[in-house]
Amino acid sequence: MSSLTSNYHAFKLLAFASAILIAVITACSSEPPTPTPTTQREPTTYSGEESFQNRCAVCHGQQADGTATGPPLVNRLYEIGHHPNFSFHNAVNNGVIAHHWNFGNMPPIPNVDSAEIDAIICHVRDLQRAQSIQAGQPC
Ligand code: HEC
Repeated sequence: MSSLTSNYHAFKLLAFASAILIAVITACSSEPPTPTPTTQREPTTYSGEESFQNRCAVCHGQQADGTATGPPLVNRLYEIGHHPNFSFHNAVNNGVIAHHWNFGNMPPIPNVDSAEIDAIICHVRDLQRAQSIQAGQPC
């Protein structure tokens, strides 16, 4: 067998191997893409009571009944008709200039997202309702 012929055979073998390789790669790449894990966050569920204790009770009292540094939120003044839910969002996000009491201003409370404020409101409204203060429908 001349070296020319054996080179030819080697070439054919290489071509055959390449063809298989290409076929395998093509088959693999044509598989349906594996689903990528979703980056969307699950809606967070807060415990309004826990959040209230952590973020508000230091001034407003554990039962929202007031302390030396903040007024009771369980008070007719804060019934839903007079202080609707948006006034809670506003108080938390922007703080409150003292206008009803002599406790001084309420500072904005940082890092409380809207869903957490909603949960806190549900909790405060429950406490109000238990004292027959107008508090709207339970959440
Ligand atoms: C550092 C003390 C402090 C903390 C902490 C605090 N508050 Fe207050 N908050 C006050 C004071 C003082 C007032 C009363 C201002 C006034 O005289 O009207 C007030 C008033 C309010 C009002 C009435 C707003 C209005 O329009 O009159 C709401 C609602 C309220 N707070 C909700 C909250 C919630 C919810 C939290 C927790 C996320 C919270 N506060 C945390 C001190 C505080």
